[in-house]
Amino acid sequence: MAIKNIGVLTSGGDAPGMNAAIRAVVRCAIGKGFKVTGIRQGYRGLLKGDMEELTPRNVSECMQRGGTMLETARCPEFKTPEGIAAGAQMCRDKGIDALVVIGGDGSFKGARALSEAGILTIGIPGTIDNDISCSEYTIGFDTALNTAIEAVDKIRDTCASHHRCSVIEVMGAHAGYIAVETAIATGAEVVLVPEIPFDFEKEVIDAILSGEKKGKKHYIIIMAEGIDMSAGKIAKRIKDETGIDTRETVLGHIQRGGSPTVRDRVMASRMGERAVNLLEQGMTNRVVVVKDGEITDMDITDGLNMKKSVDPGLYNLVKTLSI
Ligand code: ADP
Ligand code: F6P
Repeated sequence: MAIKNIGVLTSGGDAPGMNAAIRAVVRCAIGKGFKVTGIRQGYRGLLKGDMEELTPRNVSECMQRGGTMLETARCPEFKTPEGIAAGAQMCRDKGIDALVVIGGDGSFKGARALSEAGILTIGIPGTIDNDISCSEYTIGFDTALNTAIEAVDKIRDTCASHHRCSVIEVMGAHAGYIAVETAIATGAEVVLVPEIPFDFEKEVIDAILSGEKKGKKHYIIIMAEGIDMSAGKIAKRIKDETGIDTRETVLGHIQRGGSPTVRDRVMASRMGERAVNLLEQGMTNRVVVVKDGEITDMDITDGLNMKKSVDPGLYNLVKTLSI
């Protein structure tokens, strides 16, 4: 089917770099003679028909901005057969015959359903968590890491001044990728992630007590938000059991904003280009991924069935380097 009009939307949690991906989709598509329709607020906007044609000028000045110029949303009604049918019908009513969906696994399930309903769809992995199993990299991860380490470095300054311990929670809904690389990059004593069980007494309390004996002056504990203890509870236990003055910090949504790093801008641009090339070839139900360091693509169902987890070697490196 020769396509004429490519829709693009962002869905799920936003991520720095999404604008670069949108820009690449728009400019690559228009360069190939396609029209592009920007759909606002993800699948919610698709169902409402909240969309407009995009030109190369519409995506000027956006690459350096965090967030998504198309806004994003979560849309539970799209998880129903009626929602999918309505979304596909809206595409047909608006003359959209192909769609690029920038988001995470949930968004790709919506893309797959639209593909089954006859709309060519390609997914681009965008989430700061880097927890999309079929891709080694997701747009926003590098920027979120740099935001986190900048914050932790500042916390380390005051920790060192006060001989304190700081417990710092980073994002990652159910994944410890941000936590592990932040811990290595900030020289943390300990990292706690949901994927790897830990013995709190041995891996936290004993690490601090032995640090005291070794003359350490302060302690940084990085925890992923998905573990089953709060930062406050961890801080209290450390204070109670070691006597070290301890404070907790939850970095929160600061990790979701900010100007994208060069890695995210370039990765997003390359992924946007690949998505348009796939649609030009008439491909559908594919997700653009990074595999063995290269940008490629795979069937969405195969991608959704894959599993990946935090690299134990990286996880263990935190402890190795914190002697
Ligand atoms: P992410 O894409 O980051 O994983 P969500 O899981 O919140 O974020 O999914 C984003 C949106 O994708 C949901 O709000 C919904 O509109 C759509 N979606 C999620 N799962 C499905 C599904 N199984 N079928 C159809 N649409 C889905
Ligand atoms: O999925 C990205 C993410 O930032 C997670 O790390 C975090 O747990 C979640 O989104 C927060 O979602 P919301 O922005 O809806 O509060």
